[in-house]
Amino acid sequence: MMISKNMEAALNEQISLEGYASFLYLSMAVWCDNKGLSGCYQFLIRQSDEERLHMMKIFEYLADVDGLALTPGIQEPPRQFKSVQEIFKTVYAHEQKVTKCINNLIELASKENDYSTQTFLQWYVNEQREEEALMRNVLDRINLIGDGPQSLYFIDKELESINIQAATAEAEAE
Ligand code: FEO
Repeated sequence: MMISKNMEAALNEQISLEGYASFLYLSMAVWCDNKGLSGCYQFLIRQSDEERLHMMKIFEYLADVDGLALTPGIQEPPRQFKSVQEIFKTVYAHEQKVTKCINNLIELASKENDYSTQTFLQWYVNEQREEEALMRNVLDRINLIGDGPQSLYFIDKELESINIQAATAEAEAE
């Protein structure tokens, strides 16, 4: 099958959004590393890698449906952040934006009777549900810790424990 030009353009926009997320999280990771927050660093590096994978999946899909994936020009992400709390709020907001974009893509695919793209996008629906839940969980923990003198230490420990859980889940999946 061949994808419509409309759908192809919309998926290319999504490529760009996922690519930007990958670079944004990488920039956040480096900021955390500089502050000695190694748990946050590892967490954000993993999220950045995942975003690249989200981008690459669309590249592969477009190749399968005789479309053309465009390597995006990535807007420069911010390099300075106010706080680790602000970073995770921004990540959560970005994930909510991505979810909206995925929903819009599904709406377009449905209008075009493009069942193949609708089916392809189901993977992203599940992924976004998981990512939003994960980020809400992180924000809940950060809020519970509050902003006392040792809060950064405890936030980093929390992120470290989430990293360990993720590594265990990955090992079990292999
Ligand atoms: Fe690819 Fe986290 O959105």
